[in-house]
Amino acid sequence: MQLNNSALWKTCSFINGEWVVSDSTYQIKNPANQEVIADVCEITSSQLEQAITTAQVALKPWQDKTVDERAALLRSWEQLILNNREDLAAIMTLEQGKPGSEAVGEVVYGAKYIEWYAEEARRINGAVLPVNQSGRRALVLSRPVGVVTAITPWNFPGAMILRKAAAALAAGCCFIVKPSELTPLSALALAELSHKAGIPAGVFNVVTGSNAQAIGEVLTMHPLVAKFSFTGSTPVGKKLLSQCAFTVKKTSMELGGNAPFIAFEDADISAVVKGIMGSKFRNAGQTCVCANRIFIHKSIFDEVVSLLKDKVESLIVGPGSRPDTHIGPLINSEAVEKVEGLVNLAIKDGARIVTGGKRVKGEGHFFQPTILTGITPEMEIFNREIFGPVASIIVFDNEQEVIQLANQTPFGLCSYAYTQNATRIWRLSEALDFGMVGINEGVLSNPSAPFGGVKESGLGREGGSWGINEYLETRYVCIGGIG
Ligand code: SIN
Repeated sequence: MQLNNSALWKTCSFINGEWVVSDSTYQIKNPANQEVIADVCEITSSQLEQAITTAQVALKPWQDKTVDERAALLRSWEQLILNNREDLAAIMTLEQGKPGSEAVGEVVYGAKYIEWYAEEARRINGAVLPVNQSGRRALVLSRPVGVVTAITPWNFPGAMILRKAAAALAAGCCFIVKPSELTPLSALALAELSHKAGIPAGVFNVVTGSNAQAIGEVLTMHPLVAKFSFTGSTPVGKKLLSQCAFTVKKTSMELGGNAPFIAFEDADISAVVKGIMGSKFRNAGQTCVCANRIFIHKSIFDEVVSLLKDKVESLIVGPGSRPDTHIGPLINSEAVEKVEGLVNLAIKDGARIVTGGKRVKGEGHFFQPTILTGITPEMEIFNREIFGPVASIIVFDNEQEVIQLANQTPFGLCSYAYTQNATRIWRLSEALDFGMVGINEGVLSNPSAPFGGVKESGLGREGGSWGINEYLETRYVCIGGIG
């Protein structure tokens, strides 16, 4: 592929400021046509060990920098990312499939986290406490946790790394990320830019390999690692969390969702349709916060479904590299099979197809943008994260019933509700059992806001001051013998 900055094309791990090759490689494929786009190095166990030990050595000099120095380095990284946004987006589209405009949007979104945390680094404060014994002083320090490891997903190959790394580096931690084995190239390009920005060796590292389980075991169980952060599925998150228990690591877990999207009878119908299009069809339906169960009040059901049908049928499906594409491929054949299976089972159980419903024949992993109605809580599709461009619609009658149905899930990441009624907005904000509630808004993400879930959707938050606290420890210091 033609990049303006060919130095961004990297295919081996970045450890302690160096590109580290190995004899064994694995293939990265373009999900739009299954062509091999790169052979990426499999990290060896000694290289992985080296990543952790050198990050530990890099900690003190990184923490000894003044906050102004750390913030300036982060800001230069941000600037280089923005300057190279077209290339970073092209790499992302090639390995992940999302349309070019969404890829540029993700690069800018990720860079915003660096900007935010470079500023927040200046606001890591401690406290001086009142004491109840003379001759003593009591202080509270905020200390960086230490070496942080992370595993990030393929659906946002850039932003999910940056929103963790920016907070970790700002807090004074060193960071090692294993990007999804399906999308390592974006992460490696970010590493190249961190190097160009002057971020010291050992502070930001990327390790690549296809054996996620073996690498994950080291990243979660190594005694020198103080904190582990994960974005991915709930079953994998549970396993990684249990591995972290052996050394009692601090953890952040951003796991799966099953977001309800509720449109009440008094909602602005055009806003509802816009919200569903944004929340459901962004990234071909492959986000943890995608509307997964769309509840429409019976009085507006026909109108919403008809308007939505027009919009969905106007979506262009194709390779993300084509400028007119709205819906790119799903990540791989397993993803298409899963979505197809959920749709077919729903139809067998009584759902109706309004539009779409099938995989797209030919090369690449494409699935038609789909609307299903007649969904009921007993169906598999109601209870599982779809992760594809399928809007699954349920009709409802009253507020209490819909809140109970919305909360009827072990997941609690994100929820959406559309209404013009101010008292109902308050009730919903409190009654919806999710870490995030969008009222009359279908895309909530924002670097200053706490992104994260409750129940089996995870632990901790990313974004805002909540996000930096995940990389800080509270230390109580008591000084005696003072006068
Ligand atoms: C996700 O799907 O996990 C991230 C979505 C976002 O940041 O908006």
